[in-house]
Amino acid sequence: MKEFVNIGIVGVSGRGSGMLRELLKCDGVRVPAVCDKYEDRANRGAEIVKEEVGTDANVYLDYKEMFEKENLDGVYVATTWITHSRIAVDAMKAGIHVAMEVGGAASIEECWQLVRTSEETGKFCMLLENCCYDRNEMAIFNMVKKGVFGEIIHMAGGYQHDLRDEISLGRENRHGRLFNFQMRNGELYPTHQLGPITKVLGINRGNRFVSLVSMASKSRGLNEWIKNNKGEDYDLANYNFNEGDIVTTMLKCANGETVVLTHDCSLPRHYSRAYRVQGTKGIYMEDGESIYIEGQTKHEEGDWMHHPEDFEGYREEYEHPLWKKYQQDGVHAGHGGMDYLVLSAFAESVRLDAKPPIDVYDTAVMMAVTCLSEQSIALGSAPVAFPDFTNGMWIDREEPRRGKFCLDEVCEEYFEEVTAE
Ligand SMILES: NC(=O)c1ccc[n+]([C@@H]2O[C@H](COP(=O)([O-])OP(=O)(O)OC[C@H]3O[C@@H](n4cnc5c(N)ncnc54)[C@H](O)[C@@H]3O)[C@@H](O)[C@H]2O)c1
Repeated sequence: MKEFVNIGIVGVSGRGSGMLRELLKCDGVRVPAVCDKYEDRANRGAEIVKEEVGTDANVYLDYKEMFEKENLDGVYVATTWITHSRIAVDAMKAGIHVAMEVGGAASIEECWQLVRTSEETGKFCMLLENCCYDRNEMAIFNMVKKGVFGEIIHMAGGYQHDLRDEISLGRENRHGRLFNFQMRNGELYPTHQLGPITKVLGINRGNRFVSLVSMASKSRGLNEWIKNNKGEDYDLANYNFNEGDIVTTMLKCANGETVVLTHDCSLPRHYSRAYRVQGTKGIYMEDGESIYIEGQTKHEEGDWMHHPEDFEGYREEYEHPLWKKYQQDGVHAGHGGMDYLVLSAFAESVRLDAKPPIDVYDTAVMMAVTCLSEQSIALGSAPVAFPDFTNGMWIDREEPRRGKFCLDEVCEEYFEEVTAE
């Protein structure tokens, strides 16, 4: 393992600057260069590096120039949904491993470009899907692997986040989301749910998505928010937004499981990813943090139907060893700690020059849902075929790389000193 690696960053707005602070805390990481097309944001990136670790970072407005001039081992891309992939492709061609922020693809061709460039260059492209490393999702994964839910039949999740102000004020805040809601209609943000779901279902490793159907509701939420907060005369008050307020997507797997995704960002609501895992022995539901395991959940005789248990009762037994260790070491900030973990997973892969826990095939599958759902909606909710980005290898993949950050297995042997305590 390399003692230190050089990681650059492209895109230093809200997300990029927060993650930059976390990245600088990861073992063996140096950030010698930062880039944003806006000079003030790029300069702010260099200030953050100075504040956090006291070193100077070179400032770039053009990422290609940064790739050319700096000796980077890896790059973290936190730009807009429609720019992530082209920057990732250019980075891999420049010999740099990529961590890419989440967001959906605009086309299937974009996903293939990522896959082919990674295969041709030998550089990896890891979607930085932080929710794979969230505490509950990891504990549930541990439970799935231990057979607690039996054979998995159905899963669900949602990106259910009231973002009306962030979307509507996109121009004032130079933020990328608005134009997508104006012009597109689909599951625009599928990866927070799909990260954990694809890992539970073994997608690209013995399983794959074969088809998808999407349906969108009418769009009212943004107009109402704009009228109430910016006034009737604001130019977007009566804009006909294409994106439906609620977009529901159903996916079918080769092994027979089904998945339902909900995109819900333009109506008033509390935050929830609505994670649901259901198998032949029981169910977990994030909403209400409830769980029901047949034969295990305690209930009065004859009244089993109405009494799920609180998930907290299962936490101690099934806490993922990575989280046990993380809590012993001290949890870092950033979405409850998962941001630091996903960045550490990326940094470790760069230092080892080895496959990341979320590889380019996983990245392509998660991103593809966006453009496939747009196609389905445009065709009146017709089923659309899901491409196989592994080109058949999903039936006979090489074993995943085991390690602390592995998301395909729980690699207890890497935590022996933690689990012994
Ligand atoms: N994983 C998470 O929990 C999480 C949370 C928030 C945001 N995100 C994702 O992070 C990304 C960034 O989010 P944000 O809210 O900071 O978005 P933003 O639109 O505010 O910022 C994007 C930044 O990228 C810069 N940029 C765009 N194209 C560029 C280019 N070609 N070269 C250099 N810089 C370029 C822009 O100038 C801007 O500063 C988005 O994809 C978003 O979906 C993820």
